[in-house]
Amino acid sequence: MKNLFQRVKSKLHALIFWQSSIGDFANKMYDLKLFYKYSFKNNNFKSKESEIAFLTKQYHIVEKGLALPNPRLGFGKEKINLLVDRTKQYYKKNGDDALVISIKNCLLEYIEFNKKNNVKIEGDYFKSITDFIGLNKNHNEGGTLEINKTDLQNRTNIDFENFVKSRFSVRDFAEKDVEIEVIKKAVNIAKYAPSVCNRQSWKAHVYTQKENILSLLKIQGGSNGFSDNINKLIIITTDTKAFTKLESNQIYIDGGLFSMNLVLSLHSQGIGACCLNTCFPFTSEKKVKQIGTIPENEKVIMMIGIGNLKETYKVAISRKKDLTQIMTIH
Ligand SMILES: Cc1cc2nc3c(=O)[nH]c(=O)nc-3n(C[C@H](O)[C@H](O)[C@H](O)COP(=O)(O)O)c2cc1C
Repeated sequence: MKNLFQRVKSKLHALIFWQSSIGDFANKMYDLKLFYKYSFKNNNFKSKESEIAFLTKQYHIVEKGLALPNPRLGFGKEKINLLVDRTKQYYKKNGDDALVISIKNCLLEYIEFNKKNNVKIEGDYFKSITDFIGLNKNHNEGGTLEINKTDLQNRTNIDFENFVKSRFSVRDFAEKDVEIEVIKKAVNIAKYAPSVCNRQSWKAHVYTQKENILSLLKIQGGSNGFSDNINKLIIITTDTKAFTKLESNQIYIDGGLFSMNLVLSLHSQGIGACCLNTCFPFTSEKKVKQIGTIPENEKVIMMIGIGNLKETYKVAISRKKDLTQIMTIH
């Protein structure tokens, strides 16, 4: 009896705590703790992931500079010096991996652009770049790509409006298993989502075991009444190691963009999906990470319950707001 009383008392305390602003504060502190523990500052890397994120961010400055209508000749000297210097250090440890090759290709295009515009490729600055990159273009990754409007129109000639409007959150699935290959295909499409300086810090954890799925959904709490129906569970996370100061919000933005792309990709593969919130205390996030074997440095963005479609099923209409309520022309 005493035990039961104590259990009820502690549940009540927890409930009051998480409903109060102190609970919100504690959640924010947890997020900040993760951010400061794992993110990187300037060129100070605590992990290979942060080093990769920094180099990606830095060479993307060159890539996007080259895609401007009128790039300034010799642009980005300071940033490129830092890029070359840091890439050399990375190269010593990792050799010519896909990242280094992309950086070299991008810098080669930078040199060619300057040459074409009669800039003399001489002096310490250009020499340090050319010494590092060599002069062979290895493949087409890194740098810019020329798009032909007609080709593009052919590739985008789909009924996107109908496609988007035909997606609903599905909570009633067929029993048939969703094949892993189909999920792989959807994730492979979803990775084309935009991300801050192309850092692509998202992860998709796919759970296939019923017992695991149910334990995770029990913590989530928003799938009551259909958790048994969910065939596979995807947890989207973002790696805090990929971010630097002033970027803590980007964790959620990039994770959200990837999640949306994934939901649409699953829809394109004929798989039903329902996003599932992670509006829970950080203590629950820790439990999710423990059960889901998700590393501490990843921030949980959302869960997505998926399943094959029944021949007929019901969905909530979830009426959309009128255009006038969401759009302001300034
Ligand atoms: C981040 C996020 C969290 C959500 N969490 C839940 C949830 O826990 N349980 C649920 O049944 N639906 C959840 N949904 C689904 C929403 O209820 C649904 O997207 C909304 O009503 C719009 O309907 P639609 O997806 O059919 O357009 C969530 C959606 C999002 C984007």
